[in-house]
Amino acid sequence: MTNLNEGLERVIIFDTTLRDGEQSPGAAMTYQQKLEVAEMLDAMGVDVIEAGFPIASPGDFTAVADIAKRTKRAVVCGLARTGVKDIERAGEALKGAARPRIHTFISTSPVHMQYKLKMGPNAVLDAIGASVTLARRYTDDVEWSAEDATRTEWEFLVRCVELAIRSGATTINIPDTVGYATADEYYQLIMRLRTTVADADTVVFSTHCHDDLGHAVANSIAGVRAGARQVECSMNGIGERAGNAALEEIVMALRVRNDLLPYRTDVDPTFFARASKLVANATGLVVPPNKAIVGKNAFAHESGIHQDGMLKHVETYEIMRPEDVGAVGSLPLGKLSGRHAFHEKLAALGIALDEETIGGAFARFKLLADTKKEVFDDDLVAIIGDLSASMPEADIVELTYTAGRSVTPHAAITIRYAGETYTGEASGDGSVDAAIAAIRDAYPHYAELVSFIPEAVTRGADSQARVSVTLSKIGKTASASAVHTDTVEATALAYLRALAKLEASARAAPTDPPT
Ligand code: KIV
Ligand code: ZN
Repeated sequence: MTNLNEGLERVIIFDTTLRDGEQSPGAAMTYQQKLEVAEMLDAMGVDVIEAGFPIASPGDFTAVADIAKRTKRAVVCGLARTGVKDIERAGEALKGAARPRIHTFISTSPVHMQYKLKMGPNAVLDAIGASVTLARRYTDDVEWSAEDATRTEWEFLVRCVELAIRSGATTINIPDTVGYATADEYYQLIMRLRTTVADADTVVFSTHCHDDLGHAVANSIAGVRAGARQVECSMNGIGERAGNAALEEIVMALRVRNDLLPYRTDVDPTFFARASKLVANATGLVVPPNKAIVGKNAFAHESGIHQDGMLKHVETYEIMRPEDVGAVGSLPLGKLSGRHAFHEKLAALGIALDEETIGGAFARFKLLADTKKEVFDDDLVAIIGDLSASMPEADIVELTYTAGRSVTPHAAITIRYAGETYTGEASGDGSVDAAIAAIRDAYPHYAELVSFIPEAVTRGADSQARVSVTLSKIGKTASASAVHTDTVEATALAYLRALAKLEASARAAPTDPPT
């Protein structure tokens, strides 16, 4: 058998979905969701999982510590600024990891040093030496990042990188923190560092590119071509502002174009469709239909000319197959399907659940099969994602509503919220407005509804709806999603979950995260 990887240099895939990704506005995940995402990333073959920023909050600390203990394969990494407390906290959180990494960083650009850090270059150099040296007391695997590297003066960047290497860093990350670089520029920067910096060949250079100008993936690949052997990226490209380089796009670009890009990764792309949905469910950040690799339309051929071409030969319009990225439609289940078929379907989808969760998922499947003729794979993935997004402290017990051309929309609701049961009713400008007003009547609170985005989980008018809701209150935002055959109920439930996240994050008051 031919070895497709022969002669290809390996690129380390460093996933930051749980750290930079979770810093996307409103993307906070629950503890359980973080564990599930980490488990999926580990099974997928990601090399490094950046599990969080341990000093940010007790919740972050616990999530990093538990991911560290449970992860079987990947290196587990915790982020830390240069302060002693940050690094000690990261070291402590990673104690249970088989392969721990501390990632410490400081800004090196003039604008960040002057306005954000209020530190001069010498103080920054001192902080680099001290932080990397301290991190090495906890682990031999220390990554150092020059935040805003692409806007840093060249001579100073070289001094910082050389000092980090002398102090014991084993990976040097060169972030394009504000997504400012072009691909040529980023290529030159990595190449020049690798050929200028003393002992450059003793460390791995890494890319970390933000997508403010839509260059994140192109810049990361330019970095690899220039000799970087680690790419930092996230599922669905989530991250601060416009996000990070999308993991699935990096991996597929290296696979599909390995004629020009002779590199390989250990990531199994058949996980992508599921991982993308898991992350979208957990964060409430909807994947745009035209998103490369994992968008709903990534393999849809709409126009007659394209469909005709596809029927004649798939390569006319497809450069990869949907099954390569796990986006395969297979035989649907129906209301007569039993536990056995259900188990087999989960196994075929590569979904491993404990017996209790399978019981809950099967009950949801049966309810759905009563209202919907065919239950597709996407329905099952949606149900399971919804089960993991469920919050006992934020649930709907009963919802009824009336609406129509000649009646004022009205809703009555009973909710379970923070351990109590509340009922309320209200009229509104539409059914969704009435349902949300009823929640406000049942549990008076202040939160601004920033957006609610409904999408059909599958084709057909009987499709389940997945609704993502984002709320905000005094500078804080929180998003959540919910799945139901009734769009109004899905919206009300997503609203309630987002409210619970918003109120929990207001109570936690965490340390400001980095960019
Ligand atoms: O964008 C950035 O510079 C970061 C660093 C903390 C690596 O996220
Ligand atoms: Zn970043």
